Amino acid sequence: MPLVSMNEFLPAAREGKYAVGQFNMNNLEFAQAITQAGIELKSPFIFGVSEGALKYMGIEFTVALAEAAAKQSGLPIALHLDHGSSFEVAMKCIRAGFSSVMFDGSHHSFEDNIRLTKEIVKTAHAMGVSVEGELGTIGGTEDDISLDAEKASLAKPEEAIRFYEETGVDALAIAVGTAHGVYVGEPKIHFDIIEQVAAAIPAAIVLHGGSGVPDEMLRAAIKAGAAKINVNTENQVAGTAAIREVLNKDSKVYDPRKYLTPARNAMVEVVKSKMTQFGSVGKA
Ligand code: 13P
Repeated sequence: MPLVSMNEFLPAAREGKYAVGQFNMNNLEFAQAITQAGIELKSPFIFGVSEGALKYMGIEFTVALAEAAAKQSGLPIALHLDHGSSFEVAMKCIRAGFSSVMFDGSHHSFEDNIRLTKEIVKTAHAMGVSVEGELGTIGGTEDDISLDAEKASLAKPEEAIRFYEETGVDALAIAVGTAHGVYVGEPKIHFDIIEQVAAAIPAAIVLHGGSGVPDEMLRAAIKAGAAKINVNTENQVAGTAAIREVLNKDSKVYDPRKYLTPARNAMVEVVKSKMTQFGSVGKA
């Protein structure tokens, strides 16, 4: 099966009150672990690739890994640019074979965010590629970008509605209190914002910073209308812990497969547990 746009499965997720996971791909082992979990649980999923991960893997390897995953699994898989920063990077990804892009214009003024997102939607849609926009700013750390939780600003429902109407995005990330990276304490999620926006627009509502969010909060976010949830840090933490354990136990290990295999297995378990929590099992 070729890579598909998020529109192949997000409308059904919205309708069926479950969420499809975006799992960030950072290297071969992430790609394999996420695919393995998807195959075992017959779940659709999204490979999220940040600009930092793109730089690390190279665009050709990134697309080749995702295409191999789609071919091997037969699952509906979207390859999605995570937090794209410009029209140029979005177009570069689409040209290379991405089936979906996010444009994160949240650091621009509201009007500029609309204008820039709209340009990308027009071009991407002409090529059958789905687009995610962002409103409000999400705190925490992703790649080299950090934002203090206190400086993060929540999305305003009336702005989210106008943003959707003017841009026509397929998915909308709204800042509702989650953050990228590891939480200190519990997140305070504004479920009412998710509910209000989801009830007013047909685009899939996206929850970023899905790592470390307690199960009941994930369930409540889905119930309120979140149809796409992003997870990266939990895979990084689990994979690295497995590597550390092997290396701490035996300082003579030098074959990467000896520590990357347990890392990959640990990530399979994380992704399977998220797919189960999100309710996407058996939906492929
Ligand atoms: P976490 O790393 O906190 O899971 O967030 C992932 C994310 O939102 C990617 O955009």
